[in-house]
Amino acid sequence: MLTAVYPGSFDPVTCGHLDIIERACRVFDKVIVAVLINPAKEPLFTVQERMEMLAGATRHLEKVDVESFDGLLVDFVRRRDARVILKGLRAISDFDYEFQMASINRKLDPSIETIFMMTSNDYAFLSSSAVKNLARFGGCVRGLVPGNVEAKLKNKFSTDRR
Ligand code: PNS
Repeated sequence: MLTAVYPGSFDPVTCGHLDIIERACRVFDKVIVAVLINPAKEPLFTVQERMEMLAGATRHLEKVDVESFDGLLVDFVRRRDARVILKGLRAISDFDYEFQMASINRKLDPSIETIFMMTSNDYAFLSSSAVKNLARFGGCVRGLVPGNVEAKLKNKFSTDRR
C-alpha cells in the first residue's frame, strides 16, 4: 500500500492543488491531504472550512482522505505509516523553498522521500494568495478554484464587507 501525504495550507484549495491530487490518485494507493494548523499565520479560512472545501472538491476521489496536522510534517507522515511526501512544483520560483524543505525533512527522517509533481501548464501561475486577492476585489475566480470554493470565497468577502 503506497500512501502519499500531500501537505499544505490550502487557504483555499485551488484547481492547481486539485490537479496534483487527481494525478496523484493515478500513482498512489492512498492520498492523504494534510492541512497545516499554523498558529503563526492568519488564514482567510479556518482549518475546518479548509478541510470542508477540500472534502467537497475531492468527493469524486475514493483514494483521498483529508486531515489536519500540527507540528512537524515528518511526524505526521510517520503516524500515518506513510513514506512519501508529495509536493507540487510550479515554477523555478518554488524550487529554492521546496529544495530547502525537502532537505530538512530528509535530515529529520531519511526514510521519508519527498516526490515532486510538476503542476500542469494551465495552473503554473496559480496560487491561493493570488486567488484571494482576486476574490477580495471582486475578480472572477471561475476555473481557478473548484466550484464549492468559488461560492465560499464570494460568501466570505460579501460577509466581510457587511
Ligand atoms: O501550502 P504551504 O503553506 O506552502 O505549505 C507548507 C507546509 C505545510 C508544507 C510546510 O509549512 C510544513 O511542512 N509545515 C510543517 C512544519 C514542518 O515540518 N516544517 C519542516 C521542517 S522546518
